[in-house]
Amino acid sequence: MNIVVINGTPMKGITYHMKEMFLSHIQTGNEVTEFYPNEFPSFCVGCKRCFLYGEEHCPHSEIMLPIWNAFLKADLLVFAYPVYALRAPATIKSVLDHLCVHWMVHRPDPSIFEKTALIITNSIGASNGAAQKDVKTSMSWLGVSRVYTCGAKMMGDIFWDKINDKSMKMLECKMEHLAAKVKNVKPQKRKSLKVSTLFFICKMLHQVFLNSEVEPSLDNQHYIKYGWIKHKKEKQ
Ligand SMILES: Cc1cc2nc3c(=O)[nH]c(=O)nc-3n(C[C@H](O)[C@H](O)[C@H](O)COP(=O)(O)O)c2cc1C
Repeated sequence: MNIVVINGTPMKGITYHMKEMFLSHIQTGNEVTEFYPNEFPSFCVGCKRCFLYGEEHCPHSEIMLPIWNAFLKADLLVFAYPVYALRAPATIKSVLDHLCVHWMVHRPDPSIFEKTALIITNSIGASNGAAQKDVKTSMSWLGVSRVYTCGAKMMGDIFWDKINDKSMKMLECKMEHLAAKVKNVKPQKRKSLKVSTLFFICKMLHQVFLNSEVEPSLDNQHYIKYGWIKHKKEKQ
């Protein structure tokens, strides 16, 4: 199995060790590629060149393309990050913003439909749900049908080297369970109802836009290339 890990913090703290525990349960025979915040792109500048001219025109393409290419090769996409201000940290959002061009409303890669994603988070005590949703939403719009989440409330523990035995056991147990779920993950052959519905709507919208376009947009050229929509002439 090919695994790509997006680490949302450079700290070797609780998040890092949760992710390491998880990997220790599934690592044998797997290829793991990891990215840390110092390898992430700067914030999206909003130039929209990716949408209009292609993602290679993004000012951060040199940094972002290796991450995207690793996604394409992976079977399992892992996001590991702490909760900041009840949401995903800015490091993660910066990666997510650069993925918008590959959302189903724009130019989804067909291989993404087969992938599984996993979100590992932790907080001092707050619910992890909203922070996980930031990534979950992006995964659904990219076309990932199966997304697992696992969050830990550390109940006051903030430093890895000071966490108590009970918390340590709780983390071990959670990561072992999580690893068992994805150990033998296979490419998804069927889209989930959510992804199918969103993709259906996107195809309809693209077809409507195409019917009124003189020259197909880059998004529509992509949809035509994969046979998801057709020129009016071809349809007759
Ligand atoms: C800037 C910042 C914001 C945070 N916001 C929250 C929060 O809203 N709720 C919460 O429960 N913990 C919050 N935390 C605590 C972290 O989620 C928690 O300490 C986590 O274990 C840190 O992971 P790490 O050890 O991998 O750095 C915040 C921490 C930082 C640094």
